[in-house]
Amino acid sequence: MTSLPSKMQRRQFSDAVVSWFDEHGRKQLPWQQNPTPYRVWVSEIMLQQTQVATVIPYFERFMQRFPDVLSLAEASQDEVLNHWSGLGYYARGRNLHKAAQLMVEQHSGALPDDIEWLIALPGIGRSTAGAILSLAGGQHHAILDGNVKRVLCRHYTIDGWYGKSEVEKRLWALSETLTPAKRTGAFNQAMMDMGATLCTRSKPQCPRCPLQQTCGAFASGNPLQWPHKKPKKEKPLRSTWMVIAQNDQNRVWMERRPPSGIWGGLWGFKEFDSEAAAMQAVTAMNPRHQENWAPMRHVFTHFELTINPVFVRLNEASVSTMINDKESRWLAPDEVDGGIAAPVERLLDLLRESLLSSD
Ligand code: ADE
Ligand code: SF4
Repeated sequence: MTSLPSKMQRRQFSDAVVSWFDEHGRKQLPWQQNPTPYRVWVSEIMLQQTQVATVIPYFERFMQRFPDVLSLAEASQDEVLNHWSGLGYYARGRNLHKAAQLMVEQHSGALPDDIEWLIALPGIGRSTAGAILSLAGGQHHAILDGNVKRVLCRHYTIDGWYGKSEVEKRLWALSETLTPAKRTGAFNQAMMDMGATLCTRSKPQCPRCPLQQTCGAFASGNPLQWPHKKPKKEKPLRSTWMVIAQNDQNRVWMERRPPSGIWGGLWGFKEFDSEAAAMQAVTAMNPRHQENWAPMRHVFTHFELTINPVFVRLNEASVSTMINDKESRWLAPDEVDGGIAAPVERLLDLLRESLLSSD
């Protein structure tokens, strides 16, 4: 979907959503009774990141104590936060208090009915402002909270993570073109309710959804494909050079790694953290033969390691300078009886195979 839906498609979408609201939408919530801008504002802030059922008792207590902007503005921050205690995300409560004080100072104690003024207040973003003005005053504004994003991403099979600005721009454009001028509040409330109760994150109830007929995610057979997840952060890349030195008895030089760090205490090959250091060591061994093997990837929690194996066959003179002791020794690939890191084990497998094929 690159273009916006046609007039007929928009009409079909909003009619389906508004009819669903009339039949199934919640209409008895406390803030839906006497939905003044103040009451709707407080409820919208409480409903951010919090379920309706949790919010109800907090909302009732808050309204008892702070029935209007002025009573909220004049209260101490402590008392406001006290009424918030248990709801979490306390910045919401602090911003609510600050915004009430600004409304008293700048707007004579009323909520601004201009969307740009509302957005200028602390804690009120474009979507919350649109919700307040449409739910309380019937103004024609679109919203785009997490629930609406999910419904739109699925219905229009929108690819890409919705936190990305291009994707978010497209979602806003869609929400704006779909939001009807008539019954805007019902439409917005229904979109939020559908996202919260039907088009849920992990178990969308498509058979009960009013948008099923036109929904691209439903048609695909796997609605969970959308919305796309936030891309994982790329892990930092590190490289290591492992020198696999072999003597004429087909033993390889292995060393026990220091006790801390990756593969602490496990047996491995001589290791270098740059190609230059590895080549310097290899040259000093004066090998009869050298092969660079294909690099191997190993993924750790916090980084990705590229292992560059360098296989060398040594002559007796160099071998005799490398003396067995407790922490380093010549071993046949099957002789290692301590722990071995997985990639080292794979390299030992390759060695065994090359020994078999050369027999
Ligand atoms: N989440 C945010 N606002 C909401 C609302 N008005 N109804 C249901 N969930 C919401
Ligand atoms: Fe979501 Fe399913 Fe409805 Fe599509 S049909 S909007 S996936 S619940």
